[in-house]
Amino acid sequence: MAPKTSPEVGGMGHSLKRKEDPRFIRGKGTYVDDIQLPGMLYLDIVRSPFAHAKITKIDTARALAIPGVLAVITGQDLAKYNLHWMPTLMSDTQMVLPVEKVMYQAQEVAAVLATDRYTAADGVDAVEVEYEPLPVVVDPRKALEPGAPVLRTDKKDKTDNHIWHWEWGDRAATDRAFLEAEVTVKEDIYLPRIHVASIETCGCIAHFDKVSGKLTVWMTTQAPHAIRTVFALVAGHVGLEEHKIRIISPDIGGGFGGKVPVYPGYVIAVAASVLTGKPVKWIEDRMENLQADSFARDYHIAAELAATRDGRLTALRIKTLADHGYTDAAANPSKFPAGLFHICTGSYDFQAAHVEVDGVYTNKPPGGIAYRCSFRVTEAVHTIERMADLMAHQLGMDPAEFRLKNFIKPEQFPYRSALGWEYDSGDYTAALRKAMDRIGYAALRREQADKRARGELMGIGISSFTEIVGAGPSKHFDILGLKMFDSCEIRIHPTGKAIARFGTKSQGQGHETTYAQILAEELGIPAAHIQVEEGDTDTAPYGLGTYASRSTPVAGAAAAMAARKIRDKARKLAAHLLEAAEQDLVWEPGKFSVKGAPGRARTIQEIAFAAYTNHPPGMEAGLEAVSYYDPPNLTYPFGSYICVVDIDRGTGEVKIRRFVAVDDCGNIINPMIVEGQIHGGLTMGLAPALYEEISYDEQGNIRGGSFMDYLLPTAVETPKWETDKTVTPSPHHPLGAKGVGESATVGAPAAIANAVVDALWHLGVRHVDIPITPAKVWKLLRDHGVTE
Ligand code: CDP
Repeated sequence: MAPKTSPEVGGMGHSLKRKEDPRFIRGKGTYVDDIQLPGMLYLDIVRSPFAHAKITKIDTARALAIPGVLAVITGQDLAKYNLHWMPTLMSDTQMVLPVEKVMYQAQEVAAVLATDRYTAADGVDAVEVEYEPLPVVVDPRKALEPGAPVLRTDKKDKTDNHIWHWEWGDRAATDRAFLEAEVTVKEDIYLPRIHVASIETCGCIAHFDKVSGKLTVWMTTQAPHAIRTVFALVAGHVGLEEHKIRIISPDIGGGFGGKVPVYPGYVIAVAASVLTGKPVKWIEDRMENLQADSFARDYHIAAELAATRDGRLTALRIKTLADHGYTDAAANPSKFPAGLFHICTGSYDFQAAHVEVDGVYTNKPPGGIAYRCSFRVTEAVHTIERMADLMAHQLGMDPAEFRLKNFIKPEQFPYRSALGWEYDSGDYTAALRKAMDRIGYAALRREQADKRARGELMGIGISSFTEIVGAGPSKHFDILGLKMFDSCEIRIHPTGKAIARFGTKSQGQGHETTYAQILAEELGIPAAHIQVEEGDTDTAPYGLGTYASRSTPVAGAAAAMAARKIRDKARKLAAHLLEAAEQDLVWEPGKFSVKGAPGRARTIQEIAFAAYTNHPPGMEAGLEAVSYYDPPNLTYPFGSYICVVDIDRGTGEVKIRRFVAVDDCGNIINPMIVEGQIHGGLTMGLAPALYEEISYDEQGNIRGGSFMDYLLPTAVETPKWETDKTVTPSPHHPLGAKGVGESATVGAPAAIANAVVDALWHLGVRHVDIPITPAKVWKLLRDHGVTE
């Protein structure tokens, strides 16, 4: 679709350079750690070496003797104010600092407050803690066995480690479909723990002004308003009421879901500032970030598919164990403990489906954040796309042909899935066909056959995923009761320039540019003339924040709706200025003209000036609007990815030769930014597919707690991504746009895993869990007699 506005105006469809980049590329961004306040104190944290242990003694004397160490804060200190536990977003409880025992390695045990960061670190080393180790449970299957040690002894009536059971779909119809099925396949799939690795770790500066009683917290949060409310709910009893709390998210160096939860460090810093009346800074280091902040995935999935002999899918059945660590601190909408996992029917037209998930406690840090994925969608997509390939191979069908046969067809939209979601729009066939053409699918299959005959290992993997992003609708989606809408407030200044504020918070996605483009599209004011602000709860309208690719579907829609309110008032003003009836005016981006007399027109800038200088009697001055947008549905972006791999028979190394990604996120605001989102997302999909995993030994010691062991792909490992698109607008979004931020991370791992299994299928390999390391592949090759 050609852009409606000129490049100078820069509305939708223009690849405008990012407004935020001049400050970032000059190193002039303002991140939390850049902020220095007079008299600021520093906090550092003592962490547990044990995964499960009783604390028998905390000796602070040596630490307190260090010049510059002002205090050592323990759980006992916080308990005096009832601040040693806090609620999680899933209504569980989490320790701020422990009083009795620690529940995972690297858990916060005490905090040292000092005049500078290095002294605080010295103080941490000098705190002496005595522990009495307790039995450790790291495997959720063992955690559920009878006789397993009960971990949450703080919960009086708890007799096991089971957190919740959740199920969705028609169990009886699904069981029947499996009984009647001509072909079934079954696989156990594990999606290991992984962790975000944002450039910036988490941290805050808490500043409590004892005179005004106001607390200001600069913090690395993706959801400042929600955090303000949570702080008020937790600390209202000690005088921190919501109007006395200001949360500011300044520039944020990557969030990816990891900056949604409230971590103990934030709360301790706030408590320390309230007690001392001084600003207190806490910035975690890289290892603390990697070892202790909330994790993603850790789903043990048993999946089954049923189909007819000629390759028509009939039913899906899934049972899952969700390892949440010692508390359920997942960042999910409250009514969905397993997030949106029931999007697991994917792009296929199933008659019946049933999914069950059980949450389990283990001695690990809290899990369940939506790491660049809309609440468990990665787990769902990986499962269905792996299973689709398994079924296709089992039936002896080409995986592309199998998908084309089973896709929901364009004429079936809006489509209600067997698990109850209403998909807004899609054309899966078009996306897969485009990817196949682009990569030369038929020729690749011929090449693969030739290579196989020569004993070479080449695989082609497809992932045709459906995402689900843009929570709410608020009737289904809330977090701790806060409805999941979002907001935009626009003020047009007299000279036709504007400021717009949002309830979301960019962490690198380019909102300052794309939101300005939406307003340019709707109002004809050049994007360059529109300042976008987010992240300050004292100025921005209330919103639920940025995660789960919800900014465009929800706040982007709010921007369009607020702009349309401005346009309604501008029409009245134009009618007054042109002495014409409102209904006789025609709008084109940037001006109103009189129907049939295009010369009689007023620009939006002239109208804005009149709003302050010449508004008609009876009309209020000014040109402002606010919209709180509650979407009628989620948006369902999708795509088809095809990956070609070559596998080294000797070492098991997987080399990605080509990767074509065709994405569809409806109408696009900024094509360059979308491409950037997809490139970054693909690399973040490559990462867990081949490299990243955090595991634990039997004692709960973290393996992968530093970048020596937790392998992030660099430019060297990253293949050349070939991207393309189809455009299927969302019918309910005011701009026809869908979210895109997470599509590639969600869709990519299955394409890579499918390519690897495709290369090895003829040897008898049916599945390989990610990350697909050379050692795993080499072992498979050895087990199947290929290598020694
Ligand atoms: O919530 P988050 O910003 O992470 O995700 P998003 O709404 O998918 O947007 C990511 C970036 O891509 C933002 O700058 C969007 O405005 C941009 N985008 C776009 O230009 N066109 C779309 N259809 C979707 C997103």
